[in-house]
Amino acid sequence: MFKERYAKISGWGKYVPEHVITNKDLEKMVDTSDEWITQRTGIKERRIRGENDTNSSMAVAASLPALEMAGLTAVDLDLIIVCTSSPDYLLPPVSSQVQDMLGANCGAFQLTAGCSGWVYGLATATSFIKSGMYNNILVVGSEIISFAIDYTDRQTCVLFGDAAAAVVLKPSEEPSGVLSFELGSDGSEYDALHVYDGGSTNPVSAITYEQGRHYIHMDGRRVFKFASRVVAQSLKRTIADAGLFPDDIDLYIPHQANARIVDAGARLMRQPLEKFYMNIHKYGNTSTASVPLAMVEALEEGRLKEGDKVAMIAFGAGLTWATVVVQLGVGEISPAHSLFSTGRAQYVAKRARETVLDGVQAALLPLYTFIERIRDN
Ligand code: UT7
Repeated sequence: MFKERYAKISGWGKYVPEHVITNKDLEKMVDTSDEWITQRTGIKERRIRGENDTNSSMAVAASLPALEMAGLTAVDLDLIIVCTSSPDYLLPPVSSQVQDMLGANCGAFQLTAGCSGWVYGLATATSFIKSGMYNNILVVGSEIISFAIDYTDRQTCVLFGDAAAAVVLKPSEEPSGVLSFELGSDGSEYDALHVYDGGSTNPVSAITYEQGRHYIHMDGRRVFKFASRVVAQSLKRTIADAGLFPDDIDLYIPHQANARIVDAGARLMRQPLEKFYMNIHKYGNTSTASVPLAMVEALEEGRLKEGDKVAMIAFGAGLTWATVVVQLGVGEISPAHSLFSTGRAQYVAKRARETVLDGVQAALLPLYTFIERIRDN
């Protein structure tokens, strides 16, 4: 009998750089104050990459404890998704570096959807597992967003920080993992949060550096308005899609962009602010690492337990947003069972057939070449 597959969050990890920049440090760099930053954003300090931190090294540092907790090694992985807007290089995708550094032997891709990237990644990975295509998937959010910050621009430099966090998903027959999700995009607002140069439209030039066009430019008020609207609307829709009510959610984990956006969201949801997890005071906005980092810390602090229902929402450049309702814990499918699930069995059979056909073709290639040569002569 067909049994529905779920994608259980089975392991998690985080990495935050050691170097701290406080609001007091920023007072010495730009015309700002601890009071302004605290009142307008809720941020007290943020972490900035150290000399040896790269996007890939941070992703790996977050992934290793996640794999260990899930009882897996890198070779057990079927897929790696690294979500980021600040890869080590424009090419290759940082996901391939992470795959190699971990010693994994599977497909890997980089996913970019602004600060919403990791939630997009979680929904994507869940779909692969639910379909029976894959069993074990690593989803990482890793961000060295400080590389694109102009530390003379007080509107952006007070907000952002660097971090990485990762989860490992494994199949389960019990309702767990992502129960419902919503992925959203409104590209008409693309210029509200924008790096003008460095892409194919405006490659980097001398003018780029002169005018600081390689930095993040943000119309804070526009993004604020968008976020304040979308948070409650999307949460309500996604919670309803899971067959739940806002009161059924044990903990809300919002993108850590601005404490005032969270206040507005809680009010519109008619939920107590205490149900909204916040660690913005410690890290600021770590872009796509923000939601997984908050989730990992909520777990570490015992704010979440097996069976709890969690609603997570991220928003950012695009403008994009992404929301998931997740149930923690419960049940796992033994590897033997999942291997013989219908979808997986079909997949394995198809791969085996293709491998045999590839082998036969490769073996026959010299013969074809020989026949062609005879024909040509
Ligand atoms: O993950 C990506 C998503 N990004 C976001 O969610 C960001 C959303 N936007 C925000 O969080 C807020 O709009 C900001 C924190 C960026 C700005 O707060 P605000 O309350 O919207 O301030 P504002 O832009 O309306 O500016 C108010 C005043 C301005 O001065 P005047 O024109 O009134 O004299 C700004 O120049 O505050 C000034 N200001 C600052 N003052 C001290 C702007 N940044 C600073 C600063 N320190 N760092």
